[in-house]
Amino acid sequence: MRAYGFTAVGGPEHEAFLDVPEPVAGAGELLVRVLAAGVNPGDRRLREGAHGVEPPAVLGREVAGTVVALGPGTAGFAVGDEVFGGCPGMVGGWAPLARVTASFAAHRPVGVSSVDAAVLPVAAGTAHDALTGLDLPAGATLVVNGAGGGVGVAVVQLAAARGLRVVGVASPAKHDLLRRFGTVPVAYGTGVLDRVRAAAPSGVDAVFDLVGGAALRTVASLVGDRSRLRSVADKPLVAELGGADVARDRSTAVLAELARLVAAGGLDPHVTRVVGFDDARAALAAVERGHEAGKVVLEIG
Ligand SMILES: NC(=O)c1ccc[n+]([C@@H]2O[C@H](COP(=O)([O-])OP(=O)(O)OC[C@H]3O[C@@H](n4cnc5c(N)ncnc54)[C@H](OP(=O)(O)O)[C@@H]3O)[C@@H](O)[C@H]2O)c1
Repeated sequence: MRAYGFTAVGGPEHEAFLDVPEPVAGAGELLVRVLAAGVNPGDRRLREGAHGVEPPAVLGREVAGTVVALGPGTAGFAVGDEVFGGCPGMVGGWAPLARVTASFAAHRPVGVSSVDAAVLPVAAGTAHDALTGLDLPAGATLVVNGAGGGVGVAVVQLAAARGLRVVGVASPAKHDLLRRFGTVPVAYGTGVLDRVRAAAPSGVDAVFDLVGGAALRTVASLVGDRSRLRSVADKPLVAELGGADVARDRSTAVLAELARLVAAGGLDPHVTRVVGFDDARAALAAVERGHEAGKVVLEIG
């Protein structure tokens, strides 16, 4: 089977199409013929050794496709079902056949394309879980740092649906998009704190960071109560600042809810680039640059 992965830990020079055996679904897993797969910053992190996955390994952590086999003890799905979900160990999705964790998979509703479904587990799933963890009341003000990215665009929409006021920190190129989702956009860089305070005169109740580093350190000062600070971009720094990572709920229930929202027009997965499998290298390179206009998807089937 021809899959896309990496042959050594490090930079993109180690990426390659690999000839690997067809996977077999283990206990609690689905074997899926992949139609589409999401591309995420986490794929770069994996290639750089962040998760301790030994090369050679196949990249790709989220897919949509058709169930072709069920592992032992797997309930709730049948061969032929159209599904989407996350891959065990966050590997293996960029291939014609992939294993998917059944407890982190859901049926793809009619009206939701495989391209849109493929990007829900990581970006929208993380956005959902961040909001659940923060548990802010309607009318509270949330600042999203990196609001124009994959997780950011999902979180601003889900936050608006919960009745939150959202201030989104993003480059000016993303401001019109954010306004369409009911977010007040502000530019990052020098003076960002003044711009956020002007956009949120009654104060900031929580900050969700998707950038990390110095940008996280700056926006953290907007919340005195650091239990209201979250980051999935820089786990050591957010812990140092008294905030927290997002506790993920990788469940069928969350994925089903997100797909229902997409089908009802309440969540736009905002896929802006669909790339053929042969161009997997370019797809990851685009995400790695960190300023894509929206989600990037590999079309594999
Ligand atoms: N569960 C998890 O642990 C988990 C899950 C998903 C994502 N993540 C992590 O979360 C981060 C974001 O993921 P993503 O998929 O949303 O990435 P993405 O689509 O690449 O978005 C990152 C965004 O950061 C913005 N940005 C860059 N520098 C900035 C600055 N100084 N101030 C404010 N915004 C800035 C970029 O905006 P402009 O284009 O406007 O410059 C871009 O839209 C990544 O580090 C990823 O690895 C973790």
